[in-house]
Amino acid sequence: MRIEYCEHPRLRWIALESPQVTVAEGLDVIEGLSQPQKTLPCRYFYDDRGSALFEQICDLPEYYPTRTEQGILEQYARAITQLTGACELVELGSGSSRKTRLLLEAYSELDYELQYCPIDVSAGILKATALDLLGQYPKLKLCGLAGTYEQALAHLPPAESENRMLIFLGSTIGNLDEAACDRFLTRIRQALQPGEFFLLGVDLQKSIPIIEAAYNDAQGVTAQFNLNMLQHLNRQFQANFDLHQFAHWAFYNPIQHQIEMHLRSLTAQTVQFKALEYEVSLEAGETIQTEISRKFHLPTLISKLEHLAFHPLGTWTDSQGWFALLLCQRQCSSGDCP
Ligand code: AVJ
Repeated sequence: MRIEYCEHPRLRWIALESPQVTVAEGLDVIEGLSQPQKTLPCRYFYDDRGSALFEQICDLPEYYPTRTEQGILEQYARAITQLTGACELVELGSGSSRKTRLLLEAYSELDYELQYCPIDVSAGILKATALDLLGQYPKLKLCGLAGTYEQALAHLPPAESENRMLIFLGSTIGNLDEAACDRFLTRIRQALQPGEFFLLGVDLQKSIPIIEAAYNDAQGVTAQFNLNMLQHLNRQFQANFDLHQFAHWAFYNPIQHQIEMHLRSLTAQTVQFKALEYEVSLEAGETIQTEISRKFHLPTLISKLEHLAFHPLGTWTDSQGWFALLLCQRQCSSGDCP
C-alpha cells in the first residue's frame, strides 16, 4: 500500500499495489466460467460506463431500492448521528456517494473534523465524487481507496479518531450468497474495533412482480448494464465477446429469495480471453449468471448479525417495509474486552 500524490489539501488517496492486469486477477473469471452454471463476478459490472449506467438505474421508476433507502436516510440520518456521536465514516462501494451525502450533512452538524473514506472498485467515479464532495463540504477531509472489498478490508486506513462507522448501503451485501455473506460479515467485524459501528442497507422480501420489474426496466438500462460487463471483460482481458450474441435475462428465484441476472448466449459460440490464454464455449441458450441480488427477511438478518457479534442499535424501514437500514455496534468478544 502506498499513499499517492495529493491534488487537494483535504484529500488523500490510498493506492493499492499492482494496478496492471495480471493473470491472477482473471482467475475469478476462469473459475466462474468453468462451473456447470457459468458465472462471472458482479464486480466486473463497474467500469466507468457500468458505474454511469448504475447511476441511471437508480433513477429508473422501476428501481425502488435507491429511492427507498434515500427516503429512510432523509428521515433518520439525525437519529443515526445521535446514536453514534461524532465519528469518522468509511464506506464500501461508495459510487457517487449520493445517499451518503445525507449522512455527511447530518454528521457535519455535530461540529467536528469529519473524515470520510469512500471505497470503490471504479476509480473514475471515485475521483470525480471526491473532488465534488470537497467542493461541497468545505471542512470535510477525504481519504479515497480504489479497490475491491477484499483489498479494502485488508488495507483499511487506521482509524484517526476513536470512533468510526463502516457504511455498506444499497443492499450490495445481497450480491453475496449466504456463505460468502457470513464470511464477509466476519471480515467486517475483524476490521472494526469493539465499539465501532456498522451501518447496513438491505432490500427486503416483497411481492415478486415489484422486484422483477426493478431488474427488467422498460427502457432497457438494466439490460445495457448487464451486457456492459462483457465489454469491460473484452477490454480488461482482451476477450472477444460479441454483445449482439447475448441477451439480458433477470428473474426472481423464490426458493433462494434472490434476483438472478444472467446473460443468455443466443448461439453456440466460443469466446477467447487473450490476456488469460483461456477460451470458453457456450451452447445456444446457455446462460452465464452475472449477479444474484438477495432479498432479506429482517428478523433472520438481525439474528445473524447478533450471532456474528454485531449488536443492533437501531433498525429503520420505509412505510411499506420494502427496505431496511440497520445500525449495529461491534461487540467485544472475549479476548478483546478490557
Ligand atoms: C448495487 C448490487 C445493490 O443488486 O440491485 C441493479 C445492482 N443490478 N440492477 C442490485 C443492480 C441490477 C444492485 N446493487
